[in-house]
Amino acid sequence: MNISVYGLGRVGLVTAVCFARKGYTVFGFDQNVQLIEQIRRHEAPFHEPHLADYINETVRNRRLHLNEENSESEFIFITVGTPSTSDGGIDLSQVKRAAAKIELAPSTVKRIIVVKSTVIPGTARMLADTIFNKVPNNGAKVCSNPEFLREGNAIQDTEFPDRIIIGGDDHAAMQKLEGLYKDFCGQRIPPVVQTTFENAEMIKYASNAFLATKISFINCLAGIASKTQNADIKSIANGIGLDPRIGDKFLNAGLGWGGSCFPKDLDALLAYSKKVRYDALILKATRDTNKRQWKTAVTYAKAALGSFKNKKISVLGLAFKPDTDDMREAVSIRIINQLVKMEANVAVFDPAAMNTARKIWGKKVTYAKDPQECVKGSYCCILATEWDEFRILEPHFFLTQMAKPILVDGRRVYDPKRYRNAGIKFFAIGLGPVQDDGK
Ligand code: UDX
Repeated sequence: MNISVYGLGRVGLVTAVCFARKGYTVFGFDQNVQLIEQIRRHEAPFHEPHLADYINETVRNRRLHLNEENSESEFIFITVGTPSTSDGGIDLSQVKRAAAKIELAPSTVKRIIVVKSTVIPGTARMLADTIFNKVPNNGAKVCSNPEFLREGNAIQDTEFPDRIIIGGDDHAAMQKLEGLYKDFCGQRIPPVVQTTFENAEMIKYASNAFLATKISFINCLAGIASKTQNADIKSIANGIGLDPRIGDKFLNAGLGWGGSCFPKDLDALLAYSKKVRYDALILKATRDTNKRQWKTAVTYAKAALGSFKNKKISVLGLAFKPDTDDMREAVSIRIINQLVKMEANVAVFDPAAMNTARKIWGKKVTYAKDPQECVKGSYCCILATEWDEFRILEPHFFLTQMAKPILVDGRRVYDPKRYRNAGIKFFAIGLGPVQDDGK
C-alpha cells in the first residue's frame, strides 16, 4: 500500500520512516530541499533516538521515496508545521498550502487526506468543505488524526501509540483509516476513538493543556514548599501520585516546560478560547506560572553569590528536555540571557544541542566540550536539563572542579542530603529550608 506524507519535520519524518519500516511504500514531501538532501544522504536532520537507523534502512531499501510524485497513495498525511502568529494564534498557511498541493496532484485512487498537524477545532472540516469537496477530486475524504508523540521518544510513540483518535464525518473513510492502524499496530492496537473533526482536534489541545497544567500545578506547589521548613516537593509529588485519580506522571517539579508543543498549543487554545469568547482562567494560570518558573534558578544563584559580574557560571543542559537537540522555548534560553545581562561569564554544555546553542548566543557564552570543562572554575552551576549523563555527576565532581561549590538543581535529579552533607551549597526547586539552615 502507498502512503504519502506532506511535511518531513519531527512528526512527518518519524511517521514516514515508521510506516516505511513496516513495509508500506511511503512518499515523503518537503519543500526544504536541504532537508531532503540530508535524508537522501541517510542523515537524520535532528537528534532523535533510532531515527538515523530507520532513515538508512528505508531509503536504502526504497520504501521511503523523497519528493517523488506518486498518484497511487491511498492515505495522504498532512504533517506540516502550524507555528504561532504574533498574537499567539495559529498560522495555518502551511496546512492550506499542503492541502492545495495535494488537491492538484494527480491521483488514480480514492484518497483519504489525514490531517495530523495540530490545528484548531474546525480546520479539518474547513479543508474538507473548501478544498476537497469543491471539485470531484476522485472522491477524496478528510480525516483528523492528531499526533501525540514525544520528542526523544518519537519512534516508540509512533510504533506503539497509547490511543488513536480519528475525527471525521465520513464513516467509510474513518473505518479505512482505523484499518490502516490495525494493520500497522497488529496485536498491539490501542483503543481507537472515532469522533467528530472538532472533538479530535480539541483532544490534542486538551491533552497538551492538561499535561502543561499538571506541571504548572506541581511547580506552584513547589513554590509553596520552598518556603516551608522541612518540605520537599519530591516527597509531596510522590505522596499525591499514589492516588490513581492523580497518577505519578508529569509531576516532576522543575524550571518549567518548553518545547515546540506545550507553549504553542496552549497559546493557540487560549487564542481560540478568546475567539469563541470564553475566558479560560485555568489555562492562563498554567501559562503565567510557567512564564516565571525559570527565574527560580537565577534567584537561587543570586542568593548564594550576590553579584554575577565577571564570575563564571556553568549551565548543564540546554535542550528543552533530554534526548533531543531541540531548544525551542527551552528555559535555558531565558536563564542564560538573564545571566549574560547580569554580566556573568556563562559556560554551557549539552550532549546534543550545542550547534543550536551556537546559533543563539554566538560569542556571548563559552561552549564546553564536556560537563567537566563546563563546570571547571565556575562559582555556581545550574542544572537546566536532566540528561542521564548529568544525573551521574557525584558531589566529588562538583567539589573538585568548581571555584565555589554552589549547585542549583533545576530538575530535581540529585539527593539534597548527600550533596549538602558533602559540603555543596545546594539549592533545588521545591526544597524548603531545613531546620538548621542559615544558622
Ligand atoms: C509533548 C506531549 O507530551 C506529546 O504528547 C505531544 O505530542 C507533543 O508535546 P514533548 O514536547 O516532546 O511532548 O515533551 P514532553 O516530554 O511532554 O515534555 C514537555 C516539557 O515539560 C519539557 O520541557 C519537560 O522538561 C517538561 N516536563 C515534563 C516537566 O517539567 N515535568 C514533568 O513532569 C514532565
